[in-house]
Amino acid sequence: MPNNITLTQFIIEQQREMPGASGTFSLLLNDIVTACKQISHRVNRGALIGVLGNADSENIQGEVQKKLDIITNDIMVDALSWNGLLAGMASEEVDDLISIPEQYPKGKYLALFDPLDGSSNIDVNLTVGTIFSILRCREGVDPEIEDFLRKGSEQVCAGFVLYGPSTIMVLTTGHGVNGFTLDQDIGEFILTHPNMRIPEETSEFAINMSNQRFWELPVQRYIEECISGKDGPRGKNFNMRWIASLVAEVYRILTRGGIFMYPYDTRNPERPGKLRLMYEANPMAFIIEQAGGLCSTGRERILDLKPEGIHQRVPLVLGSKEEVEKIISYHQQNN
Ligand code: AHG
Ligand code: MN
Ligand code: MN
Repeated sequence: MPNNITLTQFIIEQQREMPGASGTFSLLLNDIVTACKQISHRVNRGALIGVLGNADSENIQGEVQKKLDIITNDIMVDALSWNGLLAGMASEEVDDLISIPEQYPKGKYLALFDPLDGSSNIDVNLTVGTIFSILRCREGVDPEIEDFLRKGSEQVCAGFVLYGPSTIMVLTTGHGVNGFTLDQDIGEFILTHPNMRIPEETSEFAINMSNQRFWELPVQRYIEECISGKDGPRGKNFNMRWIASLVAEVYRILTRGGIFMYPYDTRNPERPGKLRLMYEANPMAFIIEQAGGLCSTGRERILDLKPEGIHQRVPLVLGSKEEVEKIISYHQQNN
């Protein structure tokens, strides 16, 4: 490929290779890109435009919303409502399904998103991101919850945008994973990280250690073995990272390997994990698997889960293949 391939060019060229592709998908992606550029701009302006701090509201999970949770949600909804390509939307920050306004035609896709992942980081100026997932919908219907509750393996596209030192979009349509950096001068995402692959072997883990007492035995065992380093059964030292931003952790794993866990938590059986299946686990699982890694609850493959609710939470273990396999095997031995 020649230098300076834009995201639009990349997607259109990829679509040309798919027999029967109508081309509408690239238009949809274009609108997601437009929304993410706007979000990138707001996040970057921060205190200068008064968008930091809490809003006066909670989302359905009982989490206090940040002003930017709401602003970024509105940007996504506005950018995706009018194009006639979507039948409906769902957002981590909105309790009910989001309908397409009457005045616009409806299309054949559903969009699900976490408009601002890692938003607890926003006031301390650390990396945040937007995660999205696209599903196909039955045509001509007003979608109901059931239409959204599809397995992750049915996603047609998943991606995230990282608002860090650079703004980077990572994308899969089921043909590998590619990364695009926003060139702020020309306002275009440029292909900078073609065919991203997760290194299979690693010695870096990410977990919120403050929850240790609530983990199940297999996770306790895995982390203990990592921490005992060279002297323990793994025979090597491990390093630890916790950014509290799934987008940033996944990007790090895509670049240099590692494992991320927000595992099953014994505190509340109604809430077996923290992260949300439809807006976080499924899209990240699609990306991670397409990059050669694995993504599991510890017991089941994330992409095989039959969703039960639009805001459902799940335990999440993802990253380099060998490490995730080890954790799955510890769960099997513990049964
Ligand atoms: P969100 O900001 O969309 O609510 O997501 C935050 C998530 C995830 O990005 C991160 O990995 C995790 O929550 C951080 O959890 P802790 O607050 O327990 O560190
Ligand atoms: Mn999130
Ligand atoms: Mn969020």
